[in-house]
This record gives sequence, C-alpha cells and structure tokens, in this order.
Amino acid sequence: MLNVAVVGVGGWGKNLARNYFQIPECSLKYVCDLSRPRLEELRRQFPGTAITTRFDDLVTDPELHACVIATTAASHYALAKAALRAGKDVFVEKPFVLEVHQAEELVHIAEQEGRILMVGHLLEYHPVVGRLKTMIDAHQLGDVYYMYNQRVNLGLVREDENALWSFAPHDVSALLYLLGKEPTDVAARGQSYLRRGVEDVVFITLNFDDRILAHIHVSWLDPHKIRKMTIVGSKKMVVFDDMENTEKLKIYDKSAEHNADYNTFAEYVTLRFGDITIPHLRIDEPLQLECRHFLECIRERRQPRSDGRDGVRVVKVLAAAQLSLEKNGMPIPVEPSEYRKAA
Ligand SMILES: NC(=O)c1ccc[n+]([C@@H]2O[C@H](COP(=O)([O-])OP(=O)(O)OC[C@H]3O[C@@H](n4cnc5c(N)ncnc54)[C@H](O)[C@@H]3O)[C@@H](O)[C@H]2O)c1
Repeated sequence: MLNVAVVGVGGWGKNLARNYFQIPECSLKYVCDLSRPRLEELRRQFPGTAITTRFDDLVTDPELHACVIATTAASHYALAKAALRAGKDVFVEKPFVLEVHQAEELVHIAEQEGRILMVGHLLEYHPVVGRLKTMIDAHQLGDVYYMYNQRVNLGLVREDENALWSFAPHDVSALLYLLGKEPTDVAARGQSYLRRGVEDVVFITLNFDDRILAHIHVSWLDPHKIRKMTIVGSKKMVVFDDMENTEKLKIYDKSAEHNADYNTFAEYVTLRFGDITIPHLRIDEPLQLECRHFLECIRERRQPRSDGRDGVRVVKVLAAAQLSLEKNGMPIPVEPSEYRKAA
C-alpha cells in the first residue's frame, strides 16, 4: 500500500486529496496545510488521515512514500526539493516552479535520488487530448498547420501570479505534448486592469519549426467561459470543446487542396467540405487518471508522461512568454531543451 500526503488543501488541493482518499490502492496518510481551520474542515471528510501544519512531519516519516504538492506556486520549489531530498516521490501542481533553473535543479535531484517527479499537467491526461495525440501521430489530420487555445472566464483573480502562470501551463503542456516538440520562439502581450503588475489577460504566440503556429488566449476577466482548442491540419480540422458535456471532440473533414492543373488563382486552391464526425469517447475524470498515473509510475518506477523534464520544457516557454510580456511582445527565442522528452 502506497502512503501519500497532500500538501496544500486549498481550492484545488482538496480535489487531489479526495482522489487519493478514494483510490483503494493507496492510503492518504496526511493532509498538510499552513491553515489550521482549513485542515479542521477536512478532518471529517478524510477519517483516518492525519492532519498537520508541519511539513516536517511528512519528510521525517519513513513510511510516507509520496508527497503531492498543491500549495501556491511560489512555494513549490522549496517543498518539492525538501521532499525529494528526503527520499519521497513527488507530484507538483502546475505551474511546476517559477524559474527554469529551479525546474532543472529539481529534475537533477530526482535523478540523483532515484525518485519519481511528476508535474500536474492535467490536460495530458484528458481522454480527448489522448485521442488528438493518436490522430496527430497517425497523420490523420495531415500536416498540422496551426492551432489555438482559449481558456477564459470571469473567475478567481489571483494576486500572486498572472493569468499566464495560472492558466497557460495547461495549454502549453498540451501543445508541446501534442506536437512532440518545443517552440523556437514565443511572444506574448497582456494587460493588467484589476491589480497593478498582474496581467488579467494574456495573448501568447508560439512559433514552431515547419511553419507550425500556435496561439493561446488566457484570461480571468472575460464574459465567456471557454475551454477550447482548435487544430487545423492539411487534411482535417478538429475542435476540442471541454465545456461540452458529451460532444467534446468534433472532427471536420474539411481542407484546402492545391490543384496541379490550374489557369487562374481561383482554380489553384480547392476547398473541400466533408462530414463532421463526433466520436464517442469515454471521458473519465482527468484528475483521477492523473492521480492513478502517478501511483502507477511510483509502483513501476517509470517516468510519468508529465515528468520533471516535461516540467522544464513548459517552464521554459512560460518564462520566455513572461519576458516577452515585459518587453511589449518582443519574440523571445527558446533554446532547445537538453531535457528531451522520452518517447
Ligand atoms: N490542475 C488544475 O486544474 C489546477 C486548478 C487550480 C489550481 N491549480 C494549482 O494548484 C495549486 C494550488 O492552487 P489553489 O487554487 O488550491 O490555491 P489556494 O490558495 O486555494 O490553496 C493553496 C493552499 O496551500 C496552503 N499553503 C501555502 N503554502 C504552504 C506551505 N508551505 N505548506 C503547507 N500549505 C501551504 C495554503 O494555506 C492554502 O490552503 C497552484 O499551483 C495552482 O496553480 C491547479
């Protein structure tokens, strides 16, 4: 039986705690939070689970196997480092950390200590993203031309991190996972209206080689609640709308083709309008799939899909986007990562 602790049981961490409490193959040994009232609220929900405000209780317990860190982003690095150094396997919520060198250091420590390190890139565990990955890898969309994501709503305004670091890790991790490569450069523009210096809305453009272009729009100051990804390929186009209950994925058999024989420009390109398919997909809760994946990787001692190296690649893109934001949208090159994703 794997003993797991969840550190940080605020708005999101309590969902992680609920999942680890419910999964029969593990035991939620501790929930840890600096807020005593928050812990007291959860005492009845998780009978048999110890509650503590002291992180030290976790790292000094030889029977604890894994720490799941869902505290505020600025504390991820120190907590993850201490847990890895204490020999625990570690899951860190997104954003993994706030600096590239911190991400690289955590990967290094995990490798040195022989520990599993996983980052909460939830979309990589979404069944629709899994289907999209299969389709892209099998070239069913043809060449991917471009893609764009929208993650906007009128919601929780954070004071310590901007919309880029709060929302975009999901989209960046999904794009990198789907394309299987890193962008060559990133540009971002944004604006803060509610709190000085904390951008409420950010538009990010990622350039890849092979002329692939990706765009991400994130905001917590928007009248719509949209969680949507559109991918345009040379053969097909797809839309993943996560706000739909059942029809989350639509595949458009539409494309534009070049004609070999033409006299005028109008004849050079033919637009093709085919069927729209809505595949039936079993949509298990991505969070539960993510938690189960972490436990499997611990048991089998294998690298998670969203491992620390994936975390490094995503933090590199976010850091480049942050720098671009500060430089009024100047494109910032992204150095190819030495942490190449394992196949
Ligand atoms: N995967 C997702 O879809 C998703 C969704 C929301 C939030 N998140 C991420 O989860 C993390 C937490 O977000 P949230 O919305 O729950 O924030 P929150 O502010 O509601 O909760 C954070 C909790 O961490 C506790 N905490 C802070 N520092 C601590 C420490 N050193 N030791 C113990 N406890 C500590 C705080 O007391 C608080 O209860 C963030 O990284 C956020 O980006 C992920």
